[in-house]
Amino acid sequence: MPNTIVIFGASGDLTSRKLIPALYQLYRKKRLPDQTRVVGFSRTPFTHESWRNKLGESTQQFLKQDFDPAVWAKFAANVFYQTGDLDQTDDLVALGKTLGQIEGHAATTRVYYLSTAPQVYEAAVAQLGMTGLADETQGIRRIVIEKPFGSNLISARALNDAVHQVFKEKQVYRIDHYLGKETVQNILVFRFANAIFEPLWNRNYIDSVQITVAEEVGVGRRAGYYDQSGVVRDMFQNHLLQLLTITAMEVPARFEADLVRNEKVKVLQAVRPLAGADVATNTIRAQYRGYRQEDGVAPDSQTPTFAALKLHIDNWRWQGVPFYLRSGKLMSCRTTQIVIQFRNPPHMVFGSTRQRTLDANRLVIHIQPMEGLQLHFQTKVPDAGMKMRLTDLEFRFDSEFPGKIPEAYERLLLDTLSGDASLFARSDEVELAWGIIDPIVAAWDEHGLPEMAEYEPKLWGPTEVQKWIWQDGREWLDACPVLK
Ligand code: BG6
Repeated sequence: MPNTIVIFGASGDLTSRKLIPALYQLYRKKRLPDQTRVVGFSRTPFTHESWRNKLGESTQQFLKQDFDPAVWAKFAANVFYQTGDLDQTDDLVALGKTLGQIEGHAATTRVYYLSTAPQVYEAAVAQLGMTGLADETQGIRRIVIEKPFGSNLISARALNDAVHQVFKEKQVYRIDHYLGKETVQNILVFRFANAIFEPLWNRNYIDSVQITVAEEVGVGRRAGYYDQSGVVRDMFQNHLLQLLTITAMEVPARFEADLVRNEKVKVLQAVRPLAGADVATNTIRAQYRGYRQEDGVAPDSQTPTFAALKLHIDNWRWQGVPFYLRSGKLMSCRTTQIVIQFRNPPHMVFGSTRQRTLDANRLVIHIQPMEGLQLHFQTKVPDAGMKMRLTDLEFRFDSEFPGKIPEAYERLLLDTLSGDASLFARSDEVELAWGIIDPIVAAWDEHGLPEMAEYEPKLWGPTEVQKWIWQDGREWLDACPVLK
């Protein structure tokens, strides 16, 4: 069946920076199904031609040497634009007519991509329903919803309800672009396609897990949005909790959307809720110095740009294993990594019997950049008695698989066309994630504890976060990735 991707909010940044470059790359690599058209819809007036030209320029700018004008011209012939306002029923009726003409009234898989301001998601979905655009009489209809999916549990539930008035859950694709990253999917393959790690992947062998998503950039032009949201809503509710569920989940019976998502939901259900006094001791929040002076940030803003959480998962596999999660803007370097810290051997026969946890085996999953894995283990230093040193085995994607790792949106867009929702958040998953985050934010607002700390830009967050983990006899395994 032919496909049409309709992008609402088409004149926005996401379309030019991510969606169109991803679709063009798929086309260039011959991975985009034949007869796939893209139709942009937003209020800014463009003709088909002027929109194609604008996108041509931005795509060239983002993709550089991957941009081939001749290939682009062929791709762009299937790109169309319609000016219109989502609030105006007439404009959507007109869009419906245009789509019918472009599709030659043939049965088509249509993917509606909501890339508008999140405040209009509910109204947009209602309009799609009212104007018959969601009807499946002429093919398949799906809807892709960009993050943020709500700003707390109440708004996420309201949005889910509004969406379910018009679309069935199996038609709904909630984006978390972290799930589109190759290295995130590789965690599943690493865990479930190899037999040697899974027997160790539990409380008997693992001391703790650290998940870090550090960014080098500040809030930049998005300060207006960010100051309303903050790091916990912007990064933890979605990306960090997704990384946690993939690290902690049980193996599904098959790699199928609902089976995978059932397992992830079970992890979220087992996360021990943090609320009230627990929040004061199990979280850290901080702002980078200068944040309140950013354009668009309130001078007395209480929005954290850095946070660290200690979470526990109350199930047989993970009882007693802390998961330390941290993320921040303007940190030392850009790195997303998951550190699986194994336990020490039960009895040390070489030299000192006291061994620090830090000396024990450690697996580092580098999500980005320098995608790969490192396994650290003790080795005898030659010619030094029984002296040992932590050494490592290393795997790097770029040396094993030459060529660029595709952008997350390539995989996610393809999956929306083929109808595979495994890498998209289900309604219950999103609500459970908010259920973990909301009480933390509420406790910060109500009790003001822990106090907002401050950190120097280009460091690993505030000094408080170091002391906080030392109290547990552990250390952050801070490392800007230097794979060999
Ligand atoms: C987005 C957040 O979801 O993820 C941004 O809104 C953040 O604040 C971005 O910068 C990080 O994504 P990536 O893929 O660059 O790690």
